[in-house]
Amino acid sequence: MNAKPEELYLDLLKKTLSFTLWPEPPIPIDTLNSSRPAVKKAVIAAIAKTLRLKHLQLVKQRAITTKDREEGRIWPGYADTMIGLRRLDNLQFCVETAIRERIEGDFIETGVWRGGACILMRACLVAHGVHDRRVYVADSFEGLPKPDAGKFPCDKDDKHHTHTFFAVSQREVEDNFRRYGLLDDQVVFLKGWFKDTLPTAPIEKLAVLRLDGDMYESTMVALTSLYPKLSRRGFCIIDDYALPGCRQAVDDFRADHRINGEMAVVDWSGRYWQKE
Ligand SMILES: C[S@@+](CC[C@H](N)C(=O)[O-])C[C@H]1O[C@@H](n2cnc3c(N)ncnc32)[C@H](O)[C@@H]1O
Repeated sequence: MNAKPEELYLDLLKKTLSFTLWPEPPIPIDTLNSSRPAVKKAVIAAIAKTLRLKHLQLVKQRAITTKDREEGRIWPGYADTMIGLRRLDNLQFCVETAIRERIEGDFIETGVWRGGACILMRACLVAHGVHDRRVYVADSFEGLPKPDAGKFPCDKDDKHHTHTFFAVSQREVEDNFRRYGLLDDQVVFLKGWFKDTLPTAPIEKLAVLRLDGDMYESTMVALTSLYPKLSRRGFCIIDDYALPGCRQAVDDFRADHRINGEMAVVDWSGRYWQKE
């Protein structure tokens, strides 16, 4: 066994955050209720509520493979991140390269859900004894915004805002950091819609900018507000290049700003590049 303790810690943490150490447990039947038609949703909500009064739960065993989970292709019931192991590996690589090569700045994720990817960034700072960088945690903590089709026509039919599954409160995310012993003043929360928080965020420089807001608006607002603050050789990571809205925003931004360097492929959805 040649691995150093910090490598083993971060490896174990990624498996824990993604819940891939354990089989995916069944989920309560009302967990993904927001994707169901209205009548079915109401019936299932009523059944789940009645059973809970009797301390009972009806659960659903989903047909999910280990590969689906490792590749971050599912909406997980219990994991603290949905980005899968390859994108967690990529995040660790970017953060550790920034630390090793002294690329200046803090780290941010825009769109954090239960906070797992940000928890990994904070853990990397601990593992490498870094005390002068912060992790910014930016989210509405209420899910995704309704489409603003006037400003962002690409989002016209976007349904992400209907999924309450994406609404995780700041309190829950703070509790998640706390459970891993990683909540302190090197973690800064930016609560609100990106269009309100990101343009005026109190950030000077970034070494890692990780975008995971799914929609055109969420991706474009984050790029427009934060890319100018990314250091040279800093990493811009895109979680959702498989989603048409996000992909279009990234392509538009890169074309408008003449960013021609190739994007590296992380997996079926993840991409990244280093700023020139
Ligand atoms: C797919 S989830 C992020 C997954 C997360 N990165 C992980 O590690 O599992 C998308 C998140 O982006 C947030 N979000 C998307 N668009 C937003 C916006 N315009 N303003 C604020 N939050 C937004 C949602 O609230 C949600 O938590």
